[in-house]
Amino acid sequence: EQIEKGGYEHFMLKEIFEQPKSVHDTMRGRLLVEEGIIKMAGIFDHLERFNNAGRIIIIACGTSWHAGLIGEYLIEEFARVNVEVEYASEFRYRNPIITEKDVVIAISQSGETADTMAALKLAKEKGAFIYGICNVVDSSIARITDAGSYTHAGPEIGVASTKAFTAQLTVLSLIALKLGKHNGALSNSEFMSLITELDLLPKKIEEALQSTHDITKEIAKDFVETQNFLYLGRGYNFPSALEGALKLKEISYIHAEGYPAAEMKHGPIALIDENMPIVIIAPKKGHYDKLVSNVQEIKARKGKVIAVVNKGDQQVSAMADYVIEIPETSECFSPIIAAIPLQLLAYYIAVYRGANVDQPRNLAKSVTVE
Ligand code: G6P
Repeated sequence: EQIEKGGYEHFMLKEIFEQPKSVHDTMRGRLLVEEGIIKMAGIFDHLERFNNAGRIIIIACGTSWHAGLIGEYLIEEFARVNVEVEYASEFRYRNPIITEKDVVIAISQSGETADTMAALKLAKEKGAFIYGICNVVDSSIARITDAGSYTHAGPEIGVASTKAFTAQLTVLSLIALKLGKHNGALSNSEFMSLITELDLLPKKIEEALQSTHDITKEIAKDFVETQNFLYLGRGYNFPSALEGALKLKEISYIHAEGYPAAEMKHGPIALIDENMPIVIIAPKKGHYDKLVSNVQEIKARKGKVIAVVNKGDQQVSAMADYVIEIPETSECFSPIIAAIPLQLLAYYIAVYRGANVDQPRNLAKSVTVE
């Protein structure tokens, strides 16, 4: 096992550090920047099916559901196709309206999650076109779907998903851009600038690992005894906040909630005092000014702000108690970079609390029962 961990203390840390490679592997052979094309065998034969879809419904559980939420933002923004995201467990039991024009995308690292599988079967019975985004090759979901695209993250052993999540976001980005290019929602120049940026992500993830590893480790020491955390973000980084909070609760057993930053005033603000740490994801591109106001509101109530910002940030950094700098990218890809320090922060807090990071209590890597 020590050999499999490749010198890292836990699989989770190894998998966090594998992300430059897993994102690269997920794009390899698909993203051809010089030719200006995205080649995805899984979607190529079905482009019209996607284009003519009444809507796309994404179903998933856990971390994969968070990837689905970001997928909704990506596909709606770039392909202008209507997307809904559903928890598989809710979808399957509420007699959902599904038509033969619908495309249902299941996202699942393991490809074995019982609720996701059951929801897919239901969609298939109703005649929808079903598409899989799985990590495990030849898994049950990969086998029952009409078509699909694998994430090439490699085996993920840590129960808390890390590299599978960023690989899912990579596949969803490729799909959204491919569809938008095909149906004309994206101009050629927009498409080119987005794929050029996408291609830079493995390098930027590497930079993010370097620039955030030591600081997250340091920050974690101050929160070992903390009981509650809030995570806030807006737009593409609202689901990042949900995922950051999920990582922390899964492995450290600290109660954490993710919220869209603008919703803070409708409830969570009542919780803020000098004992409440708030992780705020505030990259330059994406409602930055609004996030500055949110940080002011938090500081006025003496909350402790841990800010994830772009390198060289000034406004939020000047107010924050802790600053974590990540490289800048397009707003739509920023969750891929922001995931890195959020994973590391959760990891180190859990390690300092003496928790079993790779095998958290009560959780399973793949939930094959209801
Ligand atoms: C379990 C795992 C999570 C995962 C979820 C969905 O709860 O502990 O890490 O996100 O299942 O799993 P899937 O394999 O369908 O992505």
